[in-house]
Order: sequence, then C-alpha cells, then structure tokens
Amino acid sequence: MSVLDHTQALSVLKEYKERDGLSAEQLLDEQWSGGLTYNDFLILPGYIDFPAHKVNLESHITKKITVRTPFLSSPMDTVTEADMAISMALLGGIGIIHHNCSAEEQAEMVRKVKKFENGFIMDPIVLSPQHTVADVKDVKEAHGFCGIPITDTGKMKGKLVGIVTARDIQFQSDDASTLESIMTTDLVVAKQGITLADANRILFTSKKGKLPIVDEAGCLVSLLARSDLLKNQNYPLASKSPSSKQLLAGAAIGTREDDKERLALLADAGLDVVILDSSQGNSIYQVEMIKWIKANFPQVEVIAGNVVTREQAATLIAAGADGLRIGMGSGSICITQEVMACGRPQATAVFRVSEFARRFGVPTIADGGIGNVGHIVKALALGASAVMMGGLLAGCEETPGTYFFKDGVRLKRYRGMGSIDAMTKVNSKDGNAATKRYFSEGDTVKVAQGVVGSVVDKGSARSFLTYLITGVQHSLQDIGCLSADAFHKAVYDGQVRFEKRTAAAQLEGGVHGLHSYEKKLYA
Ligand code: IMP
Repeated sequence: MSVLDHTQALSVLKEYKERDGLSAEQLLDEQWSGGLTYNDFLILPGYIDFPAHKVNLESHITKKITVRTPFLSSPMDTVTEADMAISMALLGGIGIIHHNCSAEEQAEMVRKVKKFENGFIMDPIVLSPQHTVADVKDVKEAHGFCGIPITDTGKMKGKLVGIVTARDIQFQSDDASTLESIMTTDLVVAKQGITLADANRILFTSKKGKLPIVDEAGCLVSLLARSDLLKNQNYPLASKSPSSKQLLAGAAIGTREDDKERLALLADAGLDVVILDSSQGNSIYQVEMIKWIKANFPQVEVIAGNVVTREQAATLIAAGADGLRIGMGSGSICITQEVMACGRPQATAVFRVSEFARRFGVPTIADGGIGNVGHIVKALALGASAVMMGGLLAGCEETPGTYFFKDGVRLKRYRGMGSIDAMTKVNSKDGNAATKRYFSEGDTVKVAQGVVGSVVDKGSARSFLTYLITGVQHSLQDIGCLSADAFHKAVYDGQVRFEKRTAAAQLEGGVHGLHSYEKKLYA
C-alpha cells in the first residue's frame, strides 16, 4: 500500500462509510447488549474549537422551566431541605425538598427558599431587651458571634430597638444585667428593598459589624453581616422565577388524598415545581394526581415518575406530566432491584424513555446512580435534560444532619427513603407514616427498598457544584459540543459516537498499577 500525502487525511476519512464508534441507538441495541449502565460505555472525543468556560449547560427540567445548570438534588431527608435547595438554586439548578415531614414544615422550607435574598440573613438570632448578658454569652459560645439585633418581641418582625455587640458585653461582669441597659440604640439601619450592593456600601462606610434591615414600621426583616461582605458573591447562574425574581423552589409529594392539602400549602408558599415521588410512577394514582394538579394549580409544573420504560412514560405523558424522572433501582442506597426484581439498568432506561419523551417535548431527569462528573455527562448524552443526585451531594455542609468521624474520616449519614429507618418516621401532626414513596410505609410489615449508610464530607455545596459544572463543561469541550442542546442534537444525529467498555476496559480506565494514591477531585 502506498503512503498517501498527509494533506489528504481529511478527504480520505470521508471515504469511510461509518464514523468511528457507535451511534447511541447502536450502543443501546438491547438485542446485543442487554441493559447498560453508565460504566458500560464511553463517549468518543470530538473536535475542540472553543474554551470550556463557553459551554452553555442551560436545559429544560419541565416543559416551561429552564435552568442554567442541569442539576437537581434528591427529595430525601438526608439531602434536601431549605439550605441545600438555596445552594442548588444559587448555582443554577434546583433542590427538591423532601416530604418526610409535616406539610407545614415542608411549606416553611419552600417559603425560606422563595424568600431568600443573597447576602441577607433572613433568620438571624434575635433577642429582646429583657434577655440578659448571659444569653448573649451563650449565643457567642454556640455560634461564635455576638452581634445580635434586639427587637421588642425578641423575634424577627418585632420592632428593632437596639443591637448588642461584643463591645457592649466586654466589661460586663454581671451576667444577670438585662440587655435593655447595655444595648446600643444609636443604630445604622437600611430599608427593606435595598439592593445588596447598596447595603454592602452602607455596611462598609458605617464601619459597623451588622446592618439591620427594617420595613416601613421599623420592624426587623433581615440582617447583613460585615463578616459576610467578601463572601456575598454574585450568582449569575441562579435559577429564578422570571416574574418574581425569587429563587426557584421544588418539592416532592405523594399521591394520597392528604397530599392535595399538602400541595395547597406548598403552592401558597410559592412552589414552582412539584415532583410526584414514587419508585414506580406508572399508576392510576399519579394519573389522577397529575390531572388534579393541572386543574387546580396550573401554575405549578409537575414532574412525574419514576419510570424506566416507554410504556410507563406514555401513561404519564398522556396524563399531562411536564417532566419525567427516570430510574428504578439505580440509586446508591437502593435495594429495589434486589427485593422487587423490578427496575432497569440506568443507561438503557434513560435512553429509551428520553428518546420517547422528547417527541412530546417532555424533558427527562436521570435520577440515581450519578457517582461522578462522567456519569452526569453520560446521562445527558443519553437524552436526559438534567440529572438528580442524592449520594453525590449528601456529604455537603448544606444537607440536613451533622458530621461525625469514623476511622478518622469525616462522614455524614445518608439513608434511602425506602429504608426501614426512613419509613418508620411518623408525621408529628397525625402520627401516620410521613413519607409515601414505596406503598409500604403504612403496612404492618414494611418491605425495605433502601439502606442506611454514610458518605464522606464534600465541603460546601456551592464549591462542589461549581466543580461539577466546570467538570461537565470540560467534558463537553472534549466531545466538541458547545451546549447541552447541541450535545443532544449531535447524539440524535449520530454525530456523537460511543464505545462499549469490556471489564478489562473498565479496569484500564480507572487508576491502576499504583501502590497507593490520593484522589483529590478539585482545587
Ligand atoms: P443516588 O444519587 O444514587 O444516591 O440516588 C438517589 C435516588 O435514589 C433518589 O433520587 C431516589 O430516586 C432514589 N431513592 C431514594 N431512596 C431510595 C430507597 O430507599 N430505595 C431506592 N431508591 C431510593
């Protein structure tokens, strides 16, 4: 064979009938491969002609809602409460608040997300003039600060009458003295509605430690802290409702009668999207619930599921679902496939359901089994508009629960909502099982579908999510796609190519051959 001139390489390439690798359809051809998981394949690299930071990850999570970061946090009681939901929304995704609690508690968490204003502390510690120096010392001991606003009621929304600072109590030897006698009453305050930039400016020039924000009547509505001045970053990706400019809030509910009352409270708190939370969503209960929500709360977008087949998806799409959640048995804490013999390997489930749902303009969310950046990209490659993560985020500071040490490692508890532990939690209001995801919570014999475990400390969600976003951008750069939309299009056009991974290929693709190593994921 004669050697061709190098300048002919690109034209000779065109002579090949097929591109290297497989199309998504060929990869997922069940006749040859059965069901695939994320680890069973790789995406072949493309051509890079743009920097990674230009990659746009904007995606629909429902027919109407677009987010800039295609990430959702799971509605689990060790993953998403208000703090996590706020961080998720600030970084461009959305947190789905769990429902293993009373409807009132869940609505309060939604309200906290909707009311959140970046930089403003909405629930600061507040004392009254009748509290004592000892109380201030207790706050300092527990929280490390003692700049405390004083209102007539000792609560938020009370009339602001003073502020107590470290200097006020410095030389106070009598712990029983009331704050009335020592608090500073010469106050610098700002009016509700002030922008963060203006409030920061006042804080800066006033040289005060705290800036109370008051309403027209002089009642305390929030607080700004000097110590946060440098931390009050901008969040250009933040997910906000276009009309109110408030952060987007999501929450999960079940499909029982009392869930209708729950939804009414959530909607009243400003809920944007509700997830019908079931491990097997193809049911008459979801069909009826979707129709009821559409008739009664048309402003709330409904994500139904979970589903793993086209047949399941069709029922929910026909009922009016605005988005679908895909996954059965792929979660890190999940024993559903083992116990129920039902489920589907996640890569196949995501591809089959997404390919069907896109025909109706219904976005899909790949839920469960996301263990790293690569899994996120693979889920998007298979047609998901976004991913939902539980275990990957559970170790973040903003999740419920406290850290503990085991064998020298800092850990947080993470439990399946179908674990006996979670299913036996009762609602403080009526004594009934609080969650209703598995149709088993109210039974005498509860059949577990999840376990209780722990995950390692991930630091702040805001840093960790930034790492995930940047990681996905770099991956799409390798693949040669400038946006999540372009990626989907290129997959369905057969431009993005895939390859299956043998067991040996999987070993080769991981760290191997080292005596020991440290795996640090980002800096
Ligand atoms: P992970 O991200 O792999 O940890 O999976 C989280 C997902 O697992 C959740 O979003 C739920 O869909 C699912 N899940 C939560 N609790 C359970 C359980 O107890 N059994 C099975 N699946 C669960």
